[in-house]
Amino acid sequence: MSASKVTPWEVQGNIDYEKIIKEFGVSKIDQKLLERLEKHAKKKNKPLHHLLRRNIFFAHRDLKFILDEYEKGNKFFLYTGRAPSGHTHIGHLVPWMLTKWLQEVFDVELWFQFPDEEKFLFKEDLTLEDTEKFTQENMLDVIALGFDPKKTFFLVDTKHADLMYKEALKVSKKITFSTAKSAFGFTNDQNLGAIFYTAMQAVPSFLPCVIHKKKIPCLIPHAIDQDPHFRVSRDVIPKIGHHKPASIQCRFLPGLAGMQSDGKMSSSLDHTTIYTTDDPKTIKKKINKYAFSGGQSTVEEHRKKGGNPQVDTSYIWLTFFEEDDKKLEKIYQDYKSGKLLSGEIKAILIEKLTSLLQEHQKKREKARRNIDTFIFKKT
Ligand code: TRP
Repeated sequence: MSASKVTPWEVQGNIDYEKIIKEFGVSKIDQKLLERLEKHAKKKNKPLHHLLRRNIFFAHRDLKFILDEYEKGNKFFLYTGRAPSGHTHIGHLVPWMLTKWLQEVFDVELWFQFPDEEKFLFKEDLTLEDTEKFTQENMLDVIALGFDPKKTFFLVDTKHADLMYKEALKVSKKITFSTAKSAFGFTNDQNLGAIFYTAMQAVPSFLPCVIHKKKIPCLIPHAIDQDPHFRVSRDVIPKIGHHKPASIQCRFLPGLAGMQSDGKMSSSLDHTTIYTTDDPKTIKKKINKYAFSGGQSTVEEHRKKGGNPQVDTSYIWLTFFEEDDKKLEKIYQDYKSGKLLSGEIKAILIEKLTSLLQEHQKKREKARRNIDTFIFKKT
């Protein structure tokens, strides 16, 4: 296995998810849990989400507890977030898509954090003005996904500091520098703000309980790189009187150039990324030029030997964005047998993403009017 590195600020190399499960101490989402989720989805006339069916959400902590409580009539709330540092790319949408489904199936609140200090503290060249601008931009993408405005609350760390700081202090008092060092790989030259930051990311996992004055379970959908934050805070949160937050974790959407070169899509590598604001021409150009192909080098060879969908970015991306299992299976078989050429599978992906993003962009424009209704206000 090639070396891999996964912390909240760095994801490199070919990622071995089995190894991560062991190292992080998360549990696999098994058949029994999928069946329980499916049972609840059916009540709302929905199928099990394709990200669950395809094991893209592959791990969890305490999901059983969340379902047990829910079945006893004790609803949970959802919590996820986005540290504004640039435009939203399609990899960011993945955990939010499942979050939306969970909100619909379980009819629960979503608390969405925009930690506008995080990337300011961790990236040399970002100012607070930059992150403020991207907070607004990123909010449009979240709203565009269609979360329930009555049940969705945005928290912006520098704006909601009055509510959050007091709670972050309680968390931070119980985390030592050495714990933070080993969870995040910090060294002695790390700035003080960055060391404190994890306390701020812990807060929304229990802040609704403080606000509603009630002990409510919390479920956090997130990409696996965020687990170190919650691994650390899960130990602390019960000590300050709240339930341990549960979580459900997904794999990364690889960058266009494929798993071999990038661990996950990165906003700092423009050409391996597709942004939610890219126009059809840009989408087409990027995919045709950069999508790693599992095809053979000549058409004759491809027809004879077939392609390898497992390493083909276009195929892998379709597993994230093409909901129809039958369509996907046909693409897989045709590509593997050599019937479908590399350029043709790219064309299928281009069409899928273009229609998805054009729809998204319309909703994103409409969302400009609604930002304020989503921002949490004390009553
Ligand atoms: N740290 C996350 C990022 O880099 C942002 C974030 C804040 C988050 N709270 C979260 C992500 C909860 C998932 C779940 O984007």
